[in-house]
Amino acid sequence: MRDLLPAAVAVVVAEPPDWEGALLPEEQAGLGDRAVTSRRREFTAGRVCARRAISALGRSPVAVPTAANRAPVWPSGVVGAITHTRGYCAAAVAPADEIRSVGLDAEQHKPLSPGVVQAICLPEEEALFPRLPSGVSWPTVVFSAKETIYKVWHPIVGTWLDFHDATVTLDPATGRFTARIAPARVAAATVHAPPATVSGRFAVDGGLVRTAAVLLPA
Ligand SMILES: CC(C)(COP(=O)(O)OP(=O)(O)OC[C@H]1O[C@@H](n2cnc3c(N)ncnc32)[C@H](O)[C@@H]1OP(=O)(O)O)[C@@H](O)C(=O)NCCC(=O)NCCS
Repeated sequence: MRDLLPAAVAVVVAEPPDWEGALLPEEQAGLGDRAVTSRRREFTAGRVCARRAISALGRSPVAVPTAANRAPVWPSGVVGAITHTRGYCAAAVAPADEIRSVGLDAEQHKPLSPGVVQAICLPEEEALFPRLPSGVSWPTVVFSAKETIYKVWHPIVGTWLDFHDATVTLDPATGRFTARIAPARVAAATVHAPPATVSGRFAVDGGLVRTAAVLLPA
């Protein structure tokens, strides 16, 4: 993920031991008592990476608890995001005075079923796929971009975004994506300067689709 985010963002990708690391007591509640092994491993790797990323900002590596809405609770003055998929986990954090919000997402690079594509992609997004280079599941890239967009949007605006509330345009030549957020969602937002567009980067390699984006201070 380091390649997809600006230098102000501290990025940590999990190493094999991180999946077996330790949670701090304040983090344990976010996992619950009945988590299956795979959930425990991904949640733990995310918290270990998040704390290491906070340290990389020169701050004390405090616990990262979980809010009622499932989002991580970052220390004051820090913004961040976590992603995990089979065999891969990463966390990104940044000082809030330099970066307003950060999002990142990793997915397995696999085709989506037609029903899922329809649920995720708008007709205008689907119409562009035949013009993009072959060998990439472009709906999966759009899916990942939309997960990243939600992680950027939700911590600052606090409202839901449906998959059809963002229209994503991909530029394979530069590895950049741009998303237009549905004007009605932007108009309904009660925060100062809600983002009407979100721009980010994507990569497809190593069996993964990775996406990331930041918003700069308004
Ligand atoms: C929250 C969501 C985006 C997570 O994405 P995912 O691909 O399922 O899973 P990832 O592994 O990449 O990310 C999971 C992490 O997201 C973070 N997360 C959960 N809710 C979050 C929120 N509201 N805001 C920010 N981050 C959140 C958590 O850190 C979670 O990991 P953890 O539970 O171990 O701490 C997804 O589950 C979801 O609810 N999507 C629907 C909303 C959406 O994407 N709309 C499209 C808008 S265009």
